Amino acid sequence: MSEPLILGIETSCDETGVGIVRGTTLLADEIATSVALHARFGGVVPEVASRAHLEAMVPTIEQACKKAAIKLADVDAIAVTAGPGLAGALLVGVASAKALALALGKPIYGVNHLAAHVCVDQLEHGLLDQPSIAMLVSGGHSSLLLVPDVTQDIVALGQTIDDAAGEAFDKVARVLGLPFPGGPYIDEAALTGDPEAIAFPRGLTTPKDLAKHRFDVSFSGLKTAVARWVEREQREGNAVMVNDVAASFQEAVVDVLTRKAIDACLTHDVSTLLIGGGVAANSRLRKVAGERCAEHGISLRIPRTGLCTDNGAMVAALGSELMRRGRDASLLSFSSDSSMSVTSVVSP
Ligand code: KG4
Ligand code: ZN
Repeated sequence: MSEPLILGIETSCDETGVGIVRGTTLLADEIATSVALHARFGGVVPEVASRAHLEAMVPTIEQACKKAAIKLADVDAIAVTAGPGLAGALLVGVASAKALALALGKPIYGVNHLAAHVCVDQLEHGLLDQPSIAMLVSGGHSSLLLVPDVTQDIVALGQTIDDAAGEAFDKVARVLGLPFPGGPYIDEAALTGDPEAIAFPRGLTTPKDLAKHRFDVSFSGLKTAVARWVEREQREGNAVMVNDVAASFQEAVVDVLTRKAIDACLTHDVSTLLIGGGVAANSRLRKVAGERCAEHGISLRIPRTGLCTDNGAMVAALGSELMRRGRDASLLSFSSDSSMSVTSVVSP
């Protein structure tokens, strides 16, 4: 008998993602993004995102079915992001998924977005090692997780105490006059900059901070330090060396993230590190993580960029794994939860 066919829906932020997987085989991963609508505001506007999801939902589902060469009636279960995310945006995905599940008479899994970011790597690199450490870094999250079992047991070790990693990239890009979302532009500018030109602060790395925030990160001090540095250069009539600032800022972020992730692996005696989220596309992060993992005998798993950023395939991947492991589906009455804890992988 062939493995179950799962349709996954993701609407936690500004991407309407619909993915279709059979077992751990990816059949379709369609995305409509409203990022261009938010660009002039320098950040995602929740109400604008919700409306865009409404408009994109049906065409994106149709496109995914076409790509996977399946009919909706062939689907064995629906999975949808229940949280965490923007409240209104989540509602659109959950309502759509419930309507499909009801109409098709199929089970529904309301799943955790962070667990889905972890599980997606199974589509590319096979079953996850148990346990793994996962570092999720995007515009919305910076989480360090201990993952003994992605279907039922995830422990939050640390998170950002202020801005998310991607948010810091986006805000610094704005200060440097680069477009939104700023991460890829900083990455590119940094290629020809000197990462040691400016010694920007490494947040929460002093012994005193580590005692309380060993696996937490903070980027707001770094962001302010960059803004002050740029202001001072401008005030003194100097040309701002955008590439050097970008490289030095990026180095500070990458240094802290990789140090904390490796520390988490060593502390918990885990030999696999998985990195996900939009910031995992960062070329310097990939390089330094690769070097530091190799130094400590840790195997590094990073899904390809298209699977790191928010997408529907990751939700389908988690739904598929939940089904394979015989976990209970959600009741049709489950609610979306904008602050869903990572300890809850699937809504009851
Ligand atoms: O996962 P994602 O698509 O959406 C969420 O925020 O959930 O992540 C988008 C974030 C943005 O902040 C963007 O600037 C950042 O990921 N990003 C990058 C790179 N590509 C995207 N940050 C650093 N370097 C990159 N190459
Ligand atoms: Zn995400």
